[in-house]
Amino acid sequence: MLLVLVLGAASLTSCRRARASWHRRTALGRAEAAVAVARINRGRADYLRYCALCHGREAQGYAADHANALGNQDFLAIASSAFLRGAIASGRPGTPMSAWSQRRGGPLDDRQINGIVAYLRSLARRPLLAVSARPSAGDPVAGQRVWTERCVTCHGARGQGSAIATSVTSPEFLRSVRDGYLRHTITHGRAGTPMAGFAQLGSRAIDDLVAFIRSAEHVPGPPPPPTYEPPPGLDRLVINPTGRPPEFRLREGRFVPADQVAQALAQGRRMVILDARATSDWSTGHIAGALPFPFYNIDQMAGQLPHDGTWILAYCACPHAASGHVVDELRRRDFPHTAVIDEGWSYWTAHHLPTAHAAIVPAP
Ligand code: HEC
Ligand code: HEC
Repeated sequence: MLLVLVLGAASLTSCRRARASWHRRTALGRAEAAVAVARINRGRADYLRYCALCHGREAQGYAADHANALGNQDFLAIASSAFLRGAIASGRPGTPMSAWSQRRGGPLDDRQINGIVAYLRSLARRPLLAVSARPSAGDPVAGQRVWTERCVTCHGARGQGSAIATSVTSPEFLRSVRDGYLRHTITHGRAGTPMAGFAQLGSRAIDDLVAFIRSAEHVPGPPPPPTYEPPPGLDRLVINPTGRPPEFRLREGRFVPADQVAQALAQGRRMVILDARATSDWSTGHIAGALPFPFYNIDQMAGQLPHDGTWILAYCACPHAASGHVVDELRRRDFPHTAVIDEGWSYWTAHHLPTAHAAIVPAP
C-alpha cells in the first residue's frame, strides 16, 4: 500500500517535472502555458470584480457573511472544477450566494466562469483528491443525535446554514457532491476556518452524520426556476416621479428602516430603489419598483442616476455588504441623499412587503 503511494507520488512529481520542462523547452509548450496564465489572470480580474466583496480579495473568505474560504487548501483539495462551475452558475438559492450564469439571469458567460474556476484551482497547492463515491451506509437517526450535539450551533437544525457557516443541505450542494466529499470535510475540517475536524468521532459516527445530511435530499426542493426576460436598464428609474420627497429618519446616518420605505411608497413619495445584488436575484424577486443596480456595475451605471436630490435607496440580501458598497460609492460621487434599506431583502420578504419579479419567458 505504502509502496503504491510512494510510487504514485513519485510518478506524479516526475510527470509534473517533465511537463514543466517540456513547457519551457518547446514553442508550443510556451504558447500553451501563456494561454493558461492569461486565462487565470482574466479569471482573477473577474473574481475581484464579482466575488471579492464577500469571499475576500485573496479568497480568504468571510469578507461578508458566511461566504466560505474559496482559497482554503482543505477545500481546494476536494473542490473539483465541475463542482466550482456548478456552484458559481446556479448559486445557493435562499443564501446571499447568487446564481452568476447568464442562463440563470446573472452577468457571467461560460468563458468567464471557466476563467474564475481556473483562477481558484490555481490557488491549490496540493493535487485534487478523487473523493470516494461510496454511499454512506450510516444510520440517519443516529446521525441526527450527533448532529444535534456537535454541528447544530453553526449549521442549524436542518443544516440550512447560519450567519457563521454555509448550508450543507441545499439541494444544489447535495446534488453536486459525493459522500466522500462530506466524509472528508467532516473528518479533516478546514484548517484556519471555524470548521474543525471530527476524526475523533470515529468513522461509524461520521457515516451516520453523512446519512443524516443526505436524508435532507428526500425533502422535495423548490421546482426548477423558469427562464426570465433579461433585466431592464435604468429608464423609468424614479418611482412616483411627481410625488413629494419622503422624510426619512436614518439610523447612524445611513440606514433607513424598511417600514419607513414601505410607508413612503404607499404614500406615493418620489424615490429610487436600487437592487444591489446580482441581476439573477432581481429576476427571481425584488422590492416592487426597484431596478437592478448590481454592486459590480457602479462605474457603468452611476451616470444614469438623477442628480437632483431625489432619495436613492439600495438594498441586498447579505444583509448590507453589497448595498453598503453601493451607498459608499454613490456618496463618494456626491449623491448625499442615499441610504441602505436596513436588513434588506430578508426583512422585506419576512414582513410581506410588496415585491415583484421579472417577466417569465413562456416555455416553448
Ligand atoms: C453577496 C455575497 C457573495 C458574493 C458576491 C459571492 N458569493 Fe459565493 N457564497 C456566498 C455565501 C454566503 C456562500 C455560502 C452559501 C451557503 O450557505 O451554502 C457562498 C458559496 C459559494 C460557493 C460554494 C461553496 C461550497 O462549498 O458549497 C462557491 C464555489 C462560491 N460561493 C463562489 C463564488 C464566486 C466565484 C463568486 C463570484 C462570481 C461568488 N461566490 C460571489 C456569498 C457570496
Ligand atoms: C464552529 C462552527 C462549526 C461547527 C461546530 C461545525 N461546522 Fe461544519 N463548517 C463550518 C464552517 C465555517 C464551514 C465552511 C468553512 C470554509 O470552507 O470556509 C463548514 C463546512 C462544513 C462542510 C462543507 C460544506 C461545503 O459547503 O463545502 C460540511 C459537510 C460540514 N461543515 C459538516 C459539519 C458537521 C457534520 C459538523 C458536526 C460534526 C460540523 N460541520 C460542525 C462551521 C462549523
